[in-house]
Amino acid sequence: MLERFGEYQLIHKIATGGMAEIFLAKHTNSPVTSMPIAIKRILKQFNNNQAFIKMFLAEARIICNITHEHIVKIYDFGKNEETYYIAMEYVFGQSLGQLLNKYDQKAKTLPMENVLEVATAVLSGLEYAHNTRDRNGMFLNVVHLDMNPNNILLSYDGKIKLVDFGIAHATYTKVLKNNLQSVQGTYGYLSPEQCQEKPLDRRSDIFSFAVILYEMLAGKSLFKQMESDAAILNAIVNDEIPDITTINPQVPRELWFILQKALQKNRERRYGSASEMLDDIKRFQNMREFNPQVESLTAVLKREFAAHFIKMNRILEKAQAAYLMDELFKDIGEIEEVDLNEKIRIQQEEIVQHIRKEEEEEDQQERRAERRSWIWSIGGAVAILVLFFAALGVYLFFPFQKDTVQVFIATMPPEADIFVDGRDAGARTPVELQLVKGRTYVFEFRKEDKVAELPFVPSENPNDNKIFVKLKTRQ
Ligand SMILES: Nc1ncnc2c1ncn2[C@@H]1O[C@H](COP(=O)(O)OP(=O)(O)OP(=O)(O)O)[C@@H](O)[C@H]1O
Ligand SMILES: [Mg+2]
Repeated sequence: MLERFGEYQLIHKIATGGMAEIFLAKHTNSPVTSMPIAIKRILKQFNNNQAFIKMFLAEARIICNITHEHIVKIYDFGKNEETYYIAMEYVFGQSLGQLLNKYDQKAKTLPMENVLEVATAVLSGLEYAHNTRDRNGMFLNVVHLDMNPNNILLSYDGKIKLVDFGIAHATYTKVLKNNLQSVQGTYGYLSPEQCQEKPLDRRSDIFSFAVILYEMLAGKSLFKQMESDAAILNAIVNDEIPDITTINPQVPRELWFILQKALQKNRERRYGSASEMLDDIKRFQNMREFNPQVESLTAVLKREFAAHFIKMNRILEKAQAAYLMDELFKDIGEIEEVDLNEKIRIQQEEIVQHIRKEEEEEDQQERRAERRSWIWSIGGAVAILVLFFAALGVYLFFPFQKDTVQVFIATMPPEADIFVDGRDAGARTPVELQLVKGRTYVFEFRKEDKVAELPFVPSENPNDNKIFVKLKTRQ
């Protein structure tokens, strides 16, 4: 898939969420591997909701100024062909939600070390965002408001990042009351004050994150599994939180105390900030003995999602190859203007002359052999050798050879000397050669200090017989 979307090329659809589609993409002018990005494209039904869009843009404007190692960076946002979007950092990994689903299926819980690593990262990201101020130092009351395991992203190389910061703000306002299905599934992580539609502050995020932390430790969700949305909202506001140590006896009481404080229904009794909760978590972490045998989160993710890891790597590689091809075509386009056909004709003539010269030498050898019978055996051997190479040359390069196909070779930079199976072919790129179908040729291209090697088997299909090679500086 390579769909153009404004300045971006959409490479692969990652998911369709509550209010948007997520794509792996790249900026049209940048290589894929240097900066793959994620595009969040708002679903059509939201594009005409003026109040939603106004809030979405206002939030994005604030969030794009936040830069923190545990928050997904927003690069750009706006509108393309009537569709609103956000371009952000692509996290090559999985969401915590997906990881918890895997563990849920196996009725297992994540090791404590992994849970604490996620908790410290998320809380430090939250603390940073909650304290965002504008250029004049005015406190902006940035709150996430959609803290759920799908918005915590874990990368295969060990990064932990919060995504959709504040952007979901609009989702919980009266603006979207008519689109309630859009938030289904995340009700289980609302705070009591969100359920009661009270004005919200940072403490709402602390409650929601504590629900996630509880789920990681208990191996089951606190509120999600109720029979209806109304039952979930009622439980969040009224139900007592079950003692986690009765669900998972491995959870130490100190951690239960931290959870209890973060899950207070009355926010006045809750942690006042993410950093207060983080301090308690760190204190608890320092008291514990570190278990060096626990698998790192990176290892857990790669093991649990091996197929996804391989598939996405392939998609990234393919997209990168497509990008390089485009780049090469750009250069080849320039060469064509300097009469590529004429160049190829001259080079073909050179090849033919080269072979004729070899044939003449071979004739001379034969004549000499007749005159001097005493060296007949040596002369004969040389003639056979020369014949062999001449035949090989004819076999490799002559256009009337049976079963030959035309192969076009271009290099970047052009004008590279061509060696075939270790022999100088006496030609330079770009060139068109007649080669034998199905035979393996080992090409080497040399230009000054740049080289490239390429085993190649000419194929039936003419499209496969175009070779574009980028030379690399000799190591
Ligand atoms: N920046 C990103 N990089 C990589 N994957 C992402 C990124 N943002 C989102 N995703 C993936 O896309 C999925 C869907 O995201 P989306 O935000 O649309 O829905 P959601 O997170 O399930 O719900 P919500 O609307 O509550 O945020 C996420 O669960 C995550 O796996
Ligand atoms: Mg999300």
